[in-house]
Amino acid sequence: KETKLWGGRFKESVSETVERFTESISFDKELYRQDIMGSKAHANMLAKQGLMDNIDRDKIFEGLSEIERLIESGEFQWRADREDVHMNIEATLTDMIGEPAKKLHTARSRNDQVQADFRLWCRDTIDRIVTCIIHLQVSLVTLALKNEDVIIPGITHMQRAQPVLLRHHLLGYIEQLEHDIGRLVDCRDRLNFCPLGACALAGTGLPIDRFMTAEELGFSAPMRNSIDAVSDRDFVMEFLSANYTIAEHLSRFGEEWVLWASEEFGFITPTDCISTGSSIMPQKENPDPMELVGGKSARVIGGLVTLLTMCKGLPLSYNRDLQEDKEPVFDSINIILKMLEASIKFAHNISFNKERIYKALPAGHLDATTLADYLVKKGQMDNSDRDKILEGLGEIERLIESGEFKWRVGRDVVHIKIKAAVTEMIGEPAKKLHTARSRNDQVQIDFLLWCRDAIDGIVP
Ligand code: ARG
Repeated sequence: KETKLWGGRFKESVSETVERFTESISFDKELYRQDIMGSKAHANMLAKQGLMDNIDRDKIFEGLSEIERLIESGEFQWRADREDVHMNIEATLTDMIGEPAKKLHTARSRNDQVQADFRLWCRDTIDRIVTCIIHLQVSLVTLALKNEDVIIPGITHMQRAQPVLLRHHLLGYIEQLEHDIGRLVDCRDRLNFCPLGACALAGTGLPIDRFMTAEELGFSAPMRNSIDAVSDRDFVMEFLSANYTIAEHLSRFGEEWVLWASEEFGFITPTDCISTGSSIMPQKENPDPMELVGGKSARVIGGLVTLLTMCKGLPLSYNRDLQEDKEPVFDSINIILKMLEASIKFAHNISFNKERIYKALPAGHLDATTLADYLVKKGQMDNSDRDKILEGLGEIERLIESGEFKWRVGRDVVHIKIKAAVTEMIGEPAKKLHTARSRNDQVQIDFLLWCRDAIDGIVP
């Protein structure tokens, strides 16, 4: 049995049970490209700083390139007894080029190495996901353009509400995906700092150049604190939570399309190539891909929960528990990419049934709001109404803050309670306040402003 990289002082070799239990090579080999890239940057820096000579550096470069080739052609021997991707690559390099390979681990530990590898991997993957989201957005725009003039019954509470253009609805999905891109881009910016040089946790007394490795690997700068550098998994949680909202959005519109494809709605017809059948009911053609988009989102939620649970009790700095961060990420990303692909395919292969949709339009009093608006226009609000309303609202605020305001159970939500109270106070003009608004947009703005204030309270 070969001596482990860390095995110098061990008298007995590790048991196979423990070896099998602690290995991560079965999944972290996914990081090979980033590991090789990081090692090359590290070797370059060691050579420039006089911690290795150029001949050794060149041998290391050559060896690492050969290893990359072997991995990509499937000829590389991954060994569980070499524990993880870092030791597999380094030990193979030693087999290949001998002594010089051993100098590569100068001024580094697997603790900073795995962080650097994983950050690079997440960075690349974010770029891939963003590209896929943009493809989906383009598919949805195409679908919107193809059905430019179609009007559908807009729905709230799953009840007919107001007529809307189909493209308005589809553009709603695109906005949601745009929020997702924003979150991914933020996450990318925040994770793009280089942990190399932190070594095990305390940095090194050797004269390394952290700025050089950071720059060579495309990071914005080295991380500021070496203990944070080996402990932090915020970037993983943030990445998973950004993925979670993507999954949630895809799942929501997936479920909607499933409804639209039902006999009850009949708004869309998926083509055969995106449907599957039943083994017992010959008439069936099910929109399974979109159902599975919903179903698979559960695993992405699971990934985030795993990470949160895994990290919550960990003291600083590196703990082996942290090795468990990779599988949930690999699994979630794999799923997210497939969910995006399936949604793109679906968007390209449905047609809207104008006839069915138009049959649905006359029912449900969809024009009631327009009619109400027409009546409202006749009694528009004037400045004196506005002043009375402002005065009334000011008084209500005072009453609430002094504890004199009567919160009444029958008036179900805060909006109704306040509006009813102003009406009691100032009469007719108060009723005009609800012109051109619904509690649906009102609650959104209330909560958004509340959250903004709350954030300012946390970060003054
Ligand atoms: N495979 C480990 C991980 O993914 C690498 C770091 C291990 N460090 C250690 N000292 N055992 O977290």
